Amino acid sequence: MSSILVIYASDYGGTEKMAQAVAKGAESVEGTSVVLKKADDVNAADIQASDGVIIGTPVHMGSMDWRIKKLIDTQCSGLWMQDAMNGKVAGVFASGSGFGSAGGGVELTMLSMLNNFAELGMIIIPLPKNTPLYHKGGLQWGPYGRSADENMSPSGISEDVLKVSESHGRHIARAAALLKETPVFG
Ligand SMILES: Cc1cc2nc3c(=O)[nH]c(=O)nc-3n(C[C@H](O)[C@H](O)[C@H](O)COP(=O)(O)O)c2cc1C
Repeated sequence: MSSILVIYASDYGGTEKMAQAVAKGAESVEGTSVVLKKADDVNAADIQASDGVIIGTPVHMGSMDWRIKKLIDTQCSGLWMQDAMNGKVAGVFASGSGFGSAGGGVELTMLSMLNNFAELGMIIIPLPKNTPLYHKGGLQWGPYGRSADENMSPSGISEDVLKVSESHGRHIARAAALLKETPVFG
């Protein structure tokens, strides 16, 4: 049995929807248990008990939501001191309104989270471009849901993005199950 922890922050429900889809994908992998929690409700014990951690954030001023960064700095950093994050599988997803032609900072947001995961010694799972519907809701770093249209009117997270999010959850749960059998580090 392997365990996946899906963590998110969300004010208006877009990232939460994606988190639910990621969790659904992870649950579809036999022998996987999934815990879905808001960042504010996660503690170090939750993270320590998981084999894989998938974190989703809204893009806020071109970077991750402060609640996600708080979790990393207050809970994950303590585990880093004990080398307790090494070898856990990790992935990211994000939603943003996408203002501007460069995605409103979503790449930087996802990369900064992945940078934190690498610092923590985690094994990062990207989103490969042959994932079904990748072109509708993916970046190589993970699923990206745009919550506004080109005129910046709220559009909500598309069904296609939710399908891509499900695939991401499934990929990470599979990787976590395999790596639990044969740890990479140590
Ligand atoms: C304080 C704040 C800052 C934001 N900054 C950005 C930004 O830099 N780039 C972007 O694409 N969207 C930005 N947005 C829009 C949100 O990322 C977007 O609406 C997102 O889908 C909200 O997620 P949620 O529904 O889970 O709260 C910002 C929203 C807020 C409230």
